Amino acid sequence: MDRIRIRGGRALKGEIPISGAKNATLPLMIASLLTEDTLVLDNVPQLADVTLLQRILGNHGVDVMLSGKRPGESEHAGQTVQLSAKNIVDTTAPYHLVSKMRASFWVIGPLLARVGQARVSLPGGCAIGTRPVDFHLAALKMLGAAIEIEGGFVIASAREGLRGARIPFPKVSVGATHTAMLAASLARGESVIENAAREPEIVDVAACLEKMGAKISGAGTGTIRIEGVERLHGARHAVLPDRIETGTYAMAAAMAGGDVELLGARPELLEAPLELLARAGVEVTRTNAGIRIRRDGAGLLPVEIATAPFPGFPTDLQAQLMALMTRARGTSRITETIFENRFMHVQELARLGARIHLDGETATVEGVERLKGAPVMATDLRASVSLVIAGLAAEGETVVHRVYHLDRGFERLEQKLARCGAAIERVTG
Ligand code: EPZ
Repeated sequence: MDRIRIRGGRALKGEIPISGAKNATLPLMIASLLTEDTLVLDNVPQLADVTLLQRILGNHGVDVMLSGKRPGESEHAGQTVQLSAKNIVDTTAPYHLVSKMRASFWVIGPLLARVGQARVSLPGGCAIGTRPVDFHLAALKMLGAAIEIEGGFVIASAREGLRGARIPFPKVSVGATHTAMLAASLARGESVIENAAREPEIVDVAACLEKMGAKISGAGTGTIRIEGVERLHGARHAVLPDRIETGTYAMAAAMAGGDVELLGARPELLEAPLELLARAGVEVTRTNAGIRIRRDGAGLLPVEIATAPFPGFPTDLQAQLMALMTRARGTSRITETIFENRFMHVQELARLGARIHLDGETATVEGVERLKGAPVMATDLRASVSLVIAGLAAEGETVVHRVYHLDRGFERLEQKLARCGAAIERVTG
């Protein structure tokens, strides 16, 4: 199995192009199920999760075509993907596919709205927490669907079609907001999603749905209104830049020291993490091309932070921040409020010499003078990349195992870092 080998201690200098957002790409691809016309998505990142979703959608009958690069296009430009769900041939999403990627459960909303039925496997366990789908199911019931659970599958039907409804969520959920928004777009009458997620990826999906003919207002606020339409049509949409990838490389540059410009990054998508980095003593500037991150010899200051739904500090950057704070001058406190079990990186960071004490949902990180390279591995994407960040500053060699986690969500990670001077390579086999 592939590994990533890093020799720490080199500052990062140069430019890193930011790819399209994984967590917008997935629901956007799923939105193609809502129309018999072609949906064209630009700036799609090359990621294992995108390939897997292509297979899942193919199973439902979606024709997925990837266009190669056009002449003159930069090597970092994202791909263009054409999705055409002219005929939905199968409304079942099987366990062996859904269990590999939770977001594929989200096909349930569009399938139900378009053809009135869906049989989607429950996703099962997950490395970062229990992650139930009860809010998704409650939303679909409010829209008039009948839901049964049988043999590990959710069997949903709405023979007469879905009808608009008030959908108040007890807690903010990104996925359930996507499900409600996708389904309500084709429901009869008006729907109002209350306590909706405000993440930029929700706004991006709403923008694409509007291009497809949906009537949506309020995306990006806690209340989203959707006036259902009879049919949606094809559209072309470019995926927004990945704010988590942006934040990850910002923390990598802060960790290794140096001067890096994150090309195409949009600062307004990650104000909380950028403010936090500035508080920690990192120089953060907005440039015409994106965001510039600089840290010279100055030490890092410790921080206190709790993860929260957008616009708060994202859970998807919690592990990376923790890696960074292992080298701060003082004690940091990082509280995880979204997922109850998202601390797998703690034991691995400890293998590099980090001092972290876990108490329930709060990690106390005592900054150390030095980290020392070691073999490490993690069981989820963001935890894995936090080990890469730590490896950039650790003395000697760090080998990160189970690279397939990184490939799910970071496009050409080692190339992007190596171009800025990091001693990092992929070892295959
Ligand atoms: C999305 O997951 C992201 N995934 C996650 O990114 C991200 O960590 C998460 O949102 C939070 O920002 C994608 O966009 C593909 P939630 P999602 O529903 O939608 C509870 C990554 O690394 N909940 O917002 O599954 C849930 O258990 C991934 O890229 C219920 O109780 O997350 C959690 O505590 C990992 N019942 C909270 O809500 C439900 O039906 C928020 O989860 C749904 C959620």
